[in-house]
Amino acid sequence: MKLYVIYGGKNAEHEVSVKSAFSILQHIYYDYYTVIPVYITREGSWFRGTEVESRDSIQSKAELVDLKQKQPFSFNELLEGESVAFPVLHGPNGEDGTVQGLFETLDIPYVGSGVLASAIGMDKLISKSVFKEAGLSVLPYKEVKLRDWKVSQQDVCEALETYLDYPMYVKPVNQGSSVGITRALNSEELTEAIELAFNYDYRIVVEKGVPVREIEVAILGNEDVHTSVPGELVKQKPFYAYEDKYLNQKVVREIPAKISAELTKKMRKMAADAFEAINGSGISRADFFLTEDGEVYINEVNTFPGFTSNSMYPKVWAKTGIPYADLIEEVIQLGLRRHKDKYKLSTEVTTEDDSIEMESINAELDTK
Ligand SMILES: Nc1ncnc2c1ncn2[C@@H]1O[C@H](COP(=O)(O)OP(=O)(O)O)[C@@H](O)[C@H]1O
Ligand SMILES: [Mg+2]
Repeated sequence: MKLYVIYGGKNAEHEVSVKSAFSILQHIYYDYYTVIPVYITREGSWFRGTEVESRDSIQSKAELVDLKQKQPFSFNELLEGESVAFPVLHGPNGEDGTVQGLFETLDIPYVGSGVLASAIGMDKLISKSVFKEAGLSVLPYKEVKLRDWKVSQQDVCEALETYLDYPMYVKPVNQGSSVGITRALNSEELTEAIELAFNYDYRIVVEKGVPVREIEVAILGNEDVHTSVPGELVKQKPFYAYEDKYLNQKVVREIPAKISAELTKKMRKMAADAFEAINGSGISRADFFLTEDGEVYINEVNTFPGFTSNSMYPKVWAKTGIPYADLIEEVIQLGLRRHKDKYKLSTEVTTEDDSIEMESINAELDTK
């Protein structure tokens, strides 16, 4: 079977993606697959390199960007023989259902959540409604629309101030890795933060900021949902920018998180509920806020969390009993299984009688 490892991508999380792919390529079970690297440039062009032979074939991340015998990638190649796609992509144009839709259309099995879960997980507004509907607590928030902002910035700020207290977190609805997010402490900062966020999206969400511990639970499975021990991102300051979190590695991880058995159980249950609520499959990481008085809020579900061997997702699984290489194999198998299960579903759209009816309706329409 051919395994296409797809990474890079046209978004701000390009670099994290290359890092994750580099780690993955060092741990795949090469006996099972013919592994083909596919790099998406920052401009959105797809290139393929030559087959990766073994775990030590690729020595550096740079080799993944400057692929040997690089050539334009043709999607037709996925249709030849048996293929499975592993989109190692974070953020918009990768983790948001768009690439997943491409594989659905081509009818190719792929790793990770499907179109719906990916799209909901990426959308900081829709996901909150879905979580609330599933009975999960979320922090108070409000949407800001560009058209209202254009009419009156003052009205928008005043409306936010009557509903939420400072600090407020201002976020573009469709981004990840803290890109475009600001913590605002007064109305001046709020205005600047909203202006900044509108550079990234036409929809913005503003949330009540709360001093919190950040606890993350990994999820693995399709219909059988498994959750990991929780891990904590221990912070030295209230808000981490993209560089701190992913590139400078200033974050300390505590695995398992030092929380009570009761809270652990509660968060694992909430993680599984959130995953089911968005219709997740394969992989996800549910991120929680834990307040000083012990309240738990769900912040988000990342349908393709950071996946380097040092990232939270693989780390909490390792602690739960699944080593990194086995985890990679498991997520591939889950992708293949979901594709197979889809085939068991009926694709009949009309019965024989219905089709006769359709014919007569069409005939009627033709005469009109
Ligand atoms: N309402 C909030 N209260 C306190 N801290 C927050 C809040 N929202 C976000 N943060 C901080 O900002 C970080 C990034 O926000 P998040 O919603 O997780 O966006 P991203 O998709 O970029 O990860 C969080 O990990 C947390 O440190
Ligand atoms: Mg986050």
